[in-house]
Amino acid sequence: MGGAEFAADPPAHYTWLREHAPLGQVRLDFGAFAQDVWVVSRYADCKALLTDPRLLRSPYGAPPGVEIPEHIRLVSSTLDMKDGDEHRRLRSLVAAPFTPKRIEHLGEQVRVLAERRLDALGGDGDGGPIDLRQDFALPVTYTVIADLVGVGEQDRVRFQQGVTALMSGFSGSREDWEAHVRDLVAVTRDLVARKRTEPGDDLVTGLIEAEEAGDRLDDTELVAMVFSLVTAGYETTYNLITNAAAALLDHPDQLGLLRAAPDDEALWRSAVDEVARYLPPITGTRPATAVEDIEWHGQTVPAGASVLPLLAAANRDPDVFEEPERFDITRSPNPHLGFGHGVHFCLGANLARMEARVALQVLFERHPGLSLAVDRTELALEPMPLWTRFRELPVVLG
Ligand code: HEM
Repeated sequence: MGGAEFAADPPAHYTWLREHAPLGQVRLDFGAFAQDVWVVSRYADCKALLTDPRLLRSPYGAPPGVEIPEHIRLVSSTLDMKDGDEHRRLRSLVAAPFTPKRIEHLGEQVRVLAERRLDALGGDGDGGPIDLRQDFALPVTYTVIADLVGVGEQDRVRFQQGVTALMSGFSGSREDWEAHVRDLVAVTRDLVARKRTEPGDDLVTGLIEAEEAGDRLDDTELVAMVFSLVTAGYETTYNLITNAAAALLDHPDQLGLLRAAPDDEALWRSAVDEVARYLPPITGTRPATAVEDIEWHGQTVPAGASVLPLLAAANRDPDVFEEPERFDITRSPNPHLGFGHGVHFCLGANLARMEARVALQVLFERHPGLSLAVDRTELALEPMPLWTRFRELPVVLG
């Protein structure tokens, strides 16, 4: 799963899995490496799995007796890889800036960033096509999370280059990928070191202060947290915005509803959630490890095996969603799993929803004639497992 054939039509594969192999064994093809997992594709099973105490995140990636190199250990020490008390403690240390109250006042900042970005792109619509993903969605979302976490101007370009290289490592060699990981860890370490001497009004400074106040947050945890928040904060969100624009341009009737009621906040909110259901940027969570043999659908998942809930397949389960293949921005209720479920439910969901809503409002408000610059059949997804990402989204601002 993850190759070109899969990327050509993911929903068809999701349907097949749900119907014929609700607990199926697949190979995830990450390019530089591959991984065998048991994949769960029905909604009820995914939800059950995400709260099943027999499945843990932390043992993943560490086969008994195998020494994991420091840089790999670090990028695998993110919040979504922790369990139990350790997970609760770390999550509570970083949760404060992500509460709905703290987020709403960032809306104005997102609006200004989006407007400035469009100004810089030649917002009068006379220019040629732009790549909405790279030229608009990425810079806006990266600036928001970098400001919040505390990535200073001097580290911003290096950090982003590291993440981009890490992601593009999916199609490269294992050696290249490892080199990118090492580089990214070095950049993050520099950033944390800088904050120790130059504190600011940001999340990293807050974490350093918590560490100094005696909360057990060791250096590895601190670096892993910074790396994961910045990465999780924009890699996902800029794809959410891009996927939303693609889905809306592909469904003029739905875009028409928003154009007819541009100030209807509730409709915009519901539209963003429908995108998270229909084209979720993250299509599966991190695989969890079975800590004992688990009987499921007449099969035994052996202790030690990796199990993956396929959120994108659950999101189109006809047992839960009426006409699941239909993109419907008024869908209600919409209990999708695009932001996960259970204790690992996305920490940044409220921030991401707000960013997407405001950025899209600004985009469609400023450019009523926005249109695709290529035929819709030419829009291609990247052949990556566990992501719904367009290679690019060429549009004419109009
Ligand atoms: C989980 C941060 C945007 C989907 C998480 C976690 C963090 C995080 C820290 C791990 C939580 C835990 O394990 O306790 C953020 C931030 C975002 C953001 C800061 C933006 C500001 C998004 C977006 C999506 C998304 C746009 C997709 C629509 C998910 C999913 C999980 C998750 C599916 C669960 C992963 C799992 O169970 O392994 N997010 N996220 N996130 N996030 Fe986000």
